[in-house]
Amino acid sequence: MSKSQANWSADGSHIPDINPHTKAKHQILETYLENLIYTLYSKGRRGETTFTFVDGFCGGGMYCDRDNKSEWKGSPLRIIEAIRAGYKKSKREYDLNVKFIFIDNKRDHLACLKNYSMPKAGFGELVNGQPHKFKGEVGNLVEECEFICGEFENLVNEVIFKIDLRKGHSFFFLDPFGWTDVSMQSIRKINDLKRTEILYTYMIDYIKRFVCDRDGKDKDTFNRILDAEEYYQFDNFNTFDRIGGQCYLRNESMRLFRDKGKAKYVFTFSMIPRGDVSVLYYLMHLSQKLTALEVIKESFWQENNLDYQYYFELYGHGFRTADFYEDNQLELKFDVTQNSEYFCLEKLDIHLGRIIRNNQDGIIFRELCHQTMERNPASKEHYTNYINLLRNEKEIEIWRKGEIVKGRKVDLRKSDIIKLTKYKQLSLF
Ligand SMILES: C[S@@+](CC[C@H](N)C(=O)[O-])C[C@H]1O[C@@H](n2cnc3c(N)ncnc32)[C@H](O)[C@@H]1O
Repeated sequence: MSKSQANWSADGSHIPDINPHTKAKHQILETYLENLIYTLYSKGRRGETTFTFVDGFCGGGMYCDRDNKSEWKGSPLRIIEAIRAGYKKSKREYDLNVKFIFIDNKRDHLACLKNYSMPKAGFGELVNGQPHKFKGEVGNLVEECEFICGEFENLVNEVIFKIDLRKGHSFFFLDPFGWTDVSMQSIRKINDLKRTEILYTYMIDYIKRFVCDRDGKDKDTFNRILDAEEYYQFDNFNTFDRIGGQCYLRNESMRLFRDKGKAKYVFTFSMIPRGDVSVLYYLMHLSQKLTALEVIKESFWQENNLDYQYYFELYGHGFRTADFYEDNQLELKFDVTQNSEYFCLEKLDIHLGRIIRNNQDGIIFRELCHQTMERNPASKEHYTNYINLLRNEKEIEIWRKGEIVKGRKVDLRKSDIIKLTKYKQLSLF
């Protein structure tokens, strides 16, 4: 079933089938949010305690998983589950206050979520809109759900206003059917919130069609909604080979969301449909903080199944379903992770090596991450491993509070300074 056909009846007697890409998307969402809570709530002595999660296109909550003859939970249920898992893992003594805002423009979809899917998943106590205490071993998780029926674009101001009042960290999951349902203006407004991030399903395949015919009937809508007049400008798009074209679209999309969407960091995960070779949509992560970028990269890494040597360089982490390989009579004979690890270190050697070499007086680790994190697949752990590798080779030394750090492996801190040791050349690969 295609994404555009997803439909839920109010009583849950009809729910849509799930497809492999939506499953992957759900897994990324869940992994990411669990990691996010764990990172921010359990940070330091007292981490962030107030969060708002907005699922702007929430759907009815439950899908039919025909392959496994079971039901499959949709994004709203997965968001709640992920927060509970992150909270339990954190084992903190202070309370965590979470508000979920679920928006859909179809009344039946929201009814299905409230009356069928949430009770079925064991979240029945959350549908009455009252705060609910989920008792942990020590501190409590206080949860509250709000359900709003309407067009996301008409509700975005109200939601931002509520988040502004609540303060704390916010996260928007924006999963519309097409590119016309979320304007760049809304993305900008959300990014104006101080501590926020967005995971956005960006339908690049539709954009590609438009780019190939940019003087067609959708031109004004495209420019008005996406503010993209000066982007995707390459006049002879058809002369690109497949990979070059994908690469161009990815880079232009990142540039657009950085400039016009006011996102400090942009990272993409490509979704490639069954039997196809090009990207249908990107899961696009927009954030203002390096930590958020680090956490999403780790989550993407876990779900990635593209062969990096060929694909990663070109358009980011990606997901292909097993059926892709069946359709193409290819088997996953190679170990994607192993190839990827090596590729990753090689990439780091090029990017980081050059920067470290050009900073004879040293570079702060935070700055090194800031300059390179969006440009490679590496997680923070890969950075740590690579820099330790350089250190073991005596290419560099790590300085903290005016002294060289000793010990076998250094767990890097953002304020550490990486300095080139004299008389050594940087080249590991
Ligand atoms: C792809 S489905 C969402 C699936 C859900 N995020 C999940 O992963 O389980 C898109 C949903 O957005 C709703 N929708 C479509 N256009 C909308 C709009 N402009 N504002 C709010 N909701 C909208 C549809 O009714 C549908 O339920």
